[in-house]
Amino acid sequence: MEKQEIRTFGRRHGKKLSLRQQTLIDELLPTLKPTTGNILEIGFGAGEHVRDLARNNPTKIIIGAEPFMNGVASLLSAITDEKTNRVLDEYRGIRIWADDVRDFLRTTDSKFEQIWVLHPDPWPKARHEKRRLLNADFLNTLSKYLDQNGEIIIGTDHWEYFDWILEQIKSTNLTATIPDMEIIQTRYQHKNKAGTDAPKYLILSL
Ligand SMILES: C[S@@+](CC[C@H](N)C(=O)[O-])C[C@H]1O[C@@H](n2cnc3c(N)ncnc32)[C@H](O)[C@@H]1O
Repeated sequence: MEKQEIRTFGRRHGKKLSLRQQTLIDELLPTLKPTTGNILEIGFGAGEHVRDLARNNPTKIIIGAEPFMNGVASLLSAITDEKTNRVLDEYRGIRIWADDVRDFLRTTDSKFEQIWVLHPDPWPKARHEKRRLLNADFLNTLSKYLDQNGEIIIGTDHWEYFDWILEQIKSTNLTATIPDMEIIQTRYQHKNKAGTDAPKYLILSL
């Protein structure tokens, strides 16, 4: 029997969705199911950065994975016309996997140019450490989905998790560089739950 994977995310449902959001989940979401793509964002939250990626890469397919359905609903609302519920032109490249990214990866043979993970859940309590997504095993899995010049871009404001990831990388075939990047604005980044000065970023390549 296959080993059960440890859950890396918190809740899947939050406050009740609006009628429009529920309609988008029921009718639009199934049409945006990803198969292959160029850029992947894991754990997109409310999807601000998925939208930036789509606007900045109009010819690319951007796949966002997120199991928190209120976040998925926020992204669907933001990429559609309020009256018609149709996807706005600038967001036509977006596809959504509304579940655990590990399940998506088992279905695709994509080789990505970029894989983004912004503010992965830090699981700060020692007894929850095993829930951290960016462990060596998963980073090794992700490396198989990178194209030759592909990059995994990670950002976190939780500096202890950042150092922990650097340790994990030693057990992978990936090379890490610490870039000088502008801060990427996302909902979680604004919350700054870790209370640090700024997020730290990491680029991993083969
Ligand atoms: C702390 S939030 C950050 C959200 C967003 N990136 C931001 O910066 O605002 C981490 C997100 O990762 C998602 N997540 C955790 N494990 C995941 C997994 N295995 N597959 C996809 N998303 C996951 C969670 O549901 C959560 O929304």
